[in-house]
Amino acid sequence: MPIYHKLGKLPTKRHTQFEKPDGGLYYEELFGTVGFEGMSSLLYHLHRPTQVKQVGESKDVTPKVAVDRNMKARKLIGFQVPPADDFLESRVPLLVNTDLIFGLAAPRKSLRDYFYKNADSDELLFIHKGSGVLRTMLGNIPFEYGDYLIIPRGMIYQIDFATEDNRLLYLESHHPIYTPKKYRNWFGQLLEHSPYCERDYKLPEQLETYNEKGDFLLKIKKQGYLHELMYGYHPFDVVGYDGYNYPWGFSIHNFEPITGRVHQPPPVHLTFETSAFVVCSFCPRLYDYHPKAVPAPYNHSNIDSDEVLYYVDGDFMSRNDIAQGHITLHPGGIPHGPHPGAMERSLGKTRTDELAVMVDTFRPLMLTEEALKLDDGKYYLSWLSENEAIN
Ligand SMILES: [Fe+2]
Repeated sequence: MPIYHKLGKLPTKRHTQFEKPDGGLYYEELFGTVGFEGMSSLLYHLHRPTQVKQVGESKDVTPKVAVDRNMKARKLIGFQVPPADDFLESRVPLLVNTDLIFGLAAPRKSLRDYFYKNADSDELLFIHKGSGVLRTMLGNIPFEYGDYLIIPRGMIYQIDFATEDNRLLYLESHHPIYTPKKYRNWFGQLLEHSPYCERDYKLPEQLETYNEKGDFLLKIKKQGYLHELMYGYHPFDVVGYDGYNYPWGFSIHNFEPITGRVHQPPPVHLTFETSAFVVCSFCPRLYDYHPKAVPAPYNHSNIDSDEVLYYVDGDFMSRNDIAQGHITLHPGGIPHGPHPGAMERSLGKTRTDELAVMVDTFRPLMLTEEALKLDDGKYYLSWLSENEAIN
């Protein structure tokens, strides 16, 4: 996260004695990524963060791949993902490659029984339904419909939901998730032509600090396994931190669309990027205003990337028979484009209310066994002219 943030108490000079009011010293921890080259924060704990009491079970949670060489356009009915009480068990991985896991989840209960850390991946949660509070060792972030939550690898967290009716899209990215480089200046500040700026960020604000000794279960995801470690002190024992590595949020409703006289290409919707995929936000906006504009997109060959669209809300102009929670996968190597009749329907339209999240991966995606259960099985035929009847 390319802005400096601090919460709580800090010593005036880093790596110096930081005295507790009742004697003794706080314990400093450098919390960084990409070795010592990436973003980092300096944390001050009440207790040494290394006090493992017990190493318990390890469980293989590697997604089960059913189709590893996919050349078929797919439509997955995302809201058919069954709700589950437990936050981690609710996660259903659907599309995977060596860079990321793309999945959906419908968690019913708040995560309070244990703590969770993903040591493999930065996580992105997109809140389609529900609200609550992301509670982390570096502070809390209230969230609501439309929020992206970015949780850097290694962050210990829990999550509270206000109700049992929750729908999330999640990504586990083995590469750091950044704001788009093309929108940052050489200091990292977002430029004037960026669709969002620092003021839109949801930064962690309330630091929960516990001085509790006991048995605290931490489930750590590493190398596709979930490892259970018991710690001797409450993992939320940070009294203060500063730096650049912390969880943060951004609402898709604060993404300001870039429009033009003629159709703008998908990169104008770019919201986050990694070295292996991008995340784009398709938001309500005015259509192109050239008198002869064709608001529907042109056919395009995404030869080098697989394209995944997750439909959130509104009427998706270029697609027939698409509803909330649907996922379409357009594999690289073959062109795709508007459905029959969609181009003609778009002529003269002045605005769209569509809301969707797109993930374009630079390596092909594989489908899991769970994905095939959601597959409508016929989407790849939907560009045939005779399918105009299904409008
Ligand atoms: Fe596309």
